[in-house]
Amino acid sequence: MNVESASFSAPGKVILFGEHSVVYGYPAVASAIGLRAKCSILSTSSEQNSIIAPNLTSSGKIFLNSKIPPKMKSLEFIVQKIQKKAEIQKNFEAEIISELPISSGLGSSAAVSVSLATSLYNFQGFELNLEEINKVAYEAERIIHGTPSGIDNTISTFGGSIRFEKGDIKQIPINLSSFCFIIVNSLIQRDTKSQVYAVRERYKKHPDQISQIFEDISEIVEESIKNLKVGDLERVGYLMNKNQILLESLGVGHKQIEKIIKILTEQKAIGCKLTGAGGGGCVIGLFEDEKNINRTIEALQQEGYQPFITEISTQGVRNDR
Ligand code: PMV
Repeated sequence: MNVESASFSAPGKVILFGEHSVVYGYPAVASAIGLRAKCSILSTSSEQNSIIAPNLTSSGKIFLNSKIPPKMKSLEFIVQKIQKKAEIQKNFEAEIISELPISSGLGSSAAVSVSLATSLYNFQGFELNLEEINKVAYEAERIIHGTPSGIDNTISTFGGSIRFEKGDIKQIPINLSSFCFIIVNSLIQRDTKSQVYAVRERYKKHPDQISQIFEDISEIVEESIKNLKVGDLERVGYLMNKNQILLESLGVGHKQIEKIIKILTEQKAIGCKLTGAGGGGCVIGLFEDEKNINRTIEALQQEGYQPFITEISTQGVRNDR
């Protein structure tokens, strides 16, 4: 198969329940969201492969055999890995455009990695094998995040809403009949690696106490799955609030997260919590319907936050041609 161009997009994600404990092998629930990263690849007669990724680096076009900015190392890894597999290595130009804010807990690096890996696989003429793409994206995530659980690349590859435990996944059919889901960016950027490191240090100091918190989060995760399936919105919201308290006791809260949660609660959110590594980043809020949403968005914008409404449980990596 001779492919001259390829274009695939992959979604970002929210962790609904179980961030941090998932790094220690406990289960978590994640959902793919409506914001995506898209990679378009074209063959080129140039001898050099290049990537333009304006959301990752302002350095413009990066040639892959030159000095790579640190933020692009994981992408260089993906290219080398897939090119090595190809019998004839075709030269290409890639452009990656992402709708996802970086360092905000919405899985932007994983979405970028999955979209690039899939586009390159297709461009080099390989059958698409999602398991393999997920593995390559996981290795790329390790370059960025150190010891990631793998939940970000997995949900970005397969989409939907999943229960994730040590790499095993089960799709969760979410049965909430009416709800509205808001994501609020605190605009406090943080990096996952340092938040995971901080939790690890606390775990080493207080293993019993932190293990107990992980156990409690794990119970919330299992209960949330039952309630997402039967559509008990009130209970799902209650569990989000409970998970938030436990995340705060892990030390990954932030003043701005608390402020956002206060506003969401005043606007009658059923539940809210931080999503992702915490220490800043995004908060998710669950509402019964869209009735209060415009007022809520205004209240959040007035305080300088960036709220947006998005779908959850969206499609994983897909051909966008
Ligand atoms: O903030 P994000 O999108 O990188 O999510 C991190 C989720 C953690 O559970 C804290 C880490 C992980 O690898 O699962």
